[in-house]
Amino acid sequence: MKILIINGPNLNMVGIREPQLYGSRTYENLVASIETWARELSLEVEIYQSNHEGEIVTKIQEAYQVFDGIVINAAAYTHTSVAILDALKAVAIPTVEVHLTDINSREPFRKVSYVSMAAERTICGKGFEGYHEALSYLVEKY
Ligand code: DQA
Repeated sequence: MKILIINGPNLNMVGIREPQLYGSRTYENLVASIETWARELSLEVEIYQSNHEGEIVTKIQEAYQVFDGIVINAAAYTHTSVAILDALKAVAIPTVEVHLTDINSREPFRKVSYVSMAAERTICGKGFEGYHEALSYLVEKY
């Protein structure tokens, strides 16, 4: 089973950005954790990060007929991007949305998630572990 993991803008700054919210472990630590979980679950994963909306849209389009599942933390684009929502709907690949923080208990504008309209599940507020839960969900379901 092949899973594409997409991380949106500023997630490459995890470990540096707002450590009181996102913790002190780095993006490289996150990538290493995901690779470990993928091995344990016998999954093939590609981990992609971009700060650009259009690049994320293109990456989702390219996943069509290539990947069996998508795990996406669209970061700030979660709350703004109809284009990412439309791309996820276009490819219709089973998708799990992840957020490190609990977007429902932060500023009101973070409560709106376009991505969740195309996602089977949203996991938020569990830090890095949320990605583990997302991968486990896809393995169990498909
Ligand atoms: C985030 C939450 C978003 O609101 C924010 O813009 C991010 C990260 C999270 O993982 O908690 O950049 O997606």
